[in-house]
Amino acid sequence: MKSPDNPSYSSPASGHAGRTKEVRPFQVMAILARAQALQASGRDIIHLEVGEPDFATPEPMVEAAVAAMKAGQTGYTPALGLPALREKLAQYYHSRFGVTVSAGRILLTPGASGALLLLSAARLEAGNELLLADPGYPCNRNFARVFEAHGKLIPAGAGQRYQLTPADIHQHWTAQTRAALVASPANPTGTLLSPPQLSALADAVRAENGGQPGSLWVDEIYQGLNYSAAPQTVLSVADDAVVLNSFSKFFGMTGWRLGWAVVPESWVPALDTLAQNLFLAPSTPAQYAALAAFGPDTMNILEARRAELAQRRSYLLQALPSLGFEVPVAPDGAFYIYADASRFTHDSLNFCTQVLEETGVAITPGVDFGDYQAGSHVRFAFTTRLERLQEAVARLQNWLSK
Ligand SMILES: Cc1ncc(COP(=O)(O)O)c(C=O)c1O
Repeated sequence: MKSPDNPSYSSPASGHAGRTKEVRPFQVMAILARAQALQASGRDIIHLEVGEPDFATPEPMVEAAVAAMKAGQTGYTPALGLPALREKLAQYYHSRFGVTVSAGRILLTPGASGALLLLSAARLEAGNELLLADPGYPCNRNFARVFEAHGKLIPAGAGQRYQLTPADIHQHWTAQTRAALVASPANPTGTLLSPPQLSALADAVRAENGGQPGSLWVDEIYQGLNYSAAPQTVLSVADDAVVLNSFSKFFGMTGWRLGWAVVPESWVPALDTLAQNLFLAPSTPAQYAALAAFGPDTMNILEARRAELAQRRSYLLQALPSLGFEVPVAPDGAFYIYADASRFTHDSLNFCTQVLEETGVAITPGVDFGDYQAGSHVRFAFTTRLERLQEAVARLQNWLSK
């Protein structure tokens, strides 16, 4: 590990801490910036790189936030969130998943990102390891890095649906490992872990860590955006798992910054103290909006959106292979398709840059999600209307046939 007493440590010339060099920017941000510059110069750009839905927050939620603000609810809430919202989430676990979780174990945070920051701060010491699937959401290893821990990327190919297996846990767990973080549905692949698979992962982690609770972390941020099976939670098979979740994706609140975690009861006081110090509290208007997330009006809107996403997914799943992109595993959830582009490239960043410049279609290179086969994969996000997806496919077809 790099540290001031390690000779390989070097502070960047800027005077910033060494970790700023190792936390790499997303390539997709460079693609997005270039796409925006092209757009500003008059080009018609189709955005298939963006990891947020193109729907605004449902009206009942916006109205609830506005009403609360007009009524003067603009101050801090408790650090772990409004008790009424923690209670509502507990009820949601019960009514939707048949799981009993006490509200006291549910913490509201600034996005799932805030939850991961709290968990990393509370659980990772310098030199510890966090096991992660490669490909996976790139920020995860950086959360570990800022606490001087190591996000250990484990190659997870199409044969294992891009997910960690119990064998991976047994093979890679060491005395330094504190947790394994998996996502279901996952980004960039959209694959799910079924309840039996989650249960087997929980068993593997327990066997490795001497039965301590809280060492399997499951990112359920895309929960609800499911196409092949009803949404699930790890809590229905492993009450000792940690859950990360968010109002960003299914509930359409990316910009409001509100997420949550479910943790073992004994962790709550330490996380409360950290949350008080790091955030003071999650956003108050966002929490009032979220209180209206579970009513039938909002749920009907969200289900209609899911149905629209399902249509877009079906369209791309049949169109991409006809262009020459293989889709080894169809996504069960989220709004991404992770495609094998090896017929065209082994340098996904260069390929995505060329596609953008020459066709005006923005997609994300595999290199953003890890190292394993990253040069030959790209991610398509179906976060734009069907007609735009059709236009993107027509442009790609034209370009690839040249
Ligand atoms: C897998 C995954 N986890 C966590 C996040 C963080 O989301 P937020 O902080 O908006 O809740 C994202 C965002 O794209 C994600 O894809």
